[in-house]
Amino acid sequence: MNAKKRVAILISGRGSNMTALIEAAKAPDYPAEIVGVFSNRAAAPGLETARAEGIETATLAQSSFPSRLDFENRLTEILEGWRADIVCLAGFMRILTPEFTAHWQGRLLNIHPSLLPDFPGLDTHARALAGNVAEHGCTVHFVTPGLDEGPAILQARVPVLPGDTPETLAARVLVEEHKLYPEALRMVALGEA
Ligand code: GRF
Repeated sequence: MNAKKRVAILISGRGSNMTALIEAAKAPDYPAEIVGVFSNRAAAPGLETARAEGIETATLAQSSFPSRLDFENRLTEILEGWRADIVCLAGFMRILTPEFTAHWQGRLLNIHPSLLPDFPGLDTHARALAGNVAEHGCTVHFVTPGLDEGPAILQARVPVLPGDTPETLAARVLVEEHKLYPEALRMVALGEA
């Protein structure tokens, strides 16, 4: 097998998708390894999980930088210090500049909890219920400057069931997210996406 692709993960919170990627990457034949986890919030619970797995972590608060671009330039230095080939956003709650997305174009992935192009942005589960859709799901896509707009790599669908609340629907989607992201990263690492 060719050398494994080096992957950095960007989080802001609990990091359950990050954990799914870390677990998948433990398989000897998985084509990617997780080399670092970055959070813009030092209190993100996912950082502890990553450290417990022996993965390098870094945090920076955007508020300590004069501009978003300065913050992202430092972030790119960190990612390049880890020699990341691919960057996975996993619940990273910051909008990225076109400069950053251009720099990582084709190597920057995100997971979004809806069947894009439906329901970009926040509160996707409540909006799906309000929209009376029969199916909902999640999308792993390449990141481009527009919010949740880049080309889809894979999608997974779940039914919307009678009596669903945003929480029950989110939980059903999350189960699929944890399978979908490792599969999409595998495809990108192998050059199949
Ligand atoms: C997930 O639903 C993901 O799709 C969205 O933010 C949530 C992050 O959850 N982008 P976690 O931190 O991976 O548990």
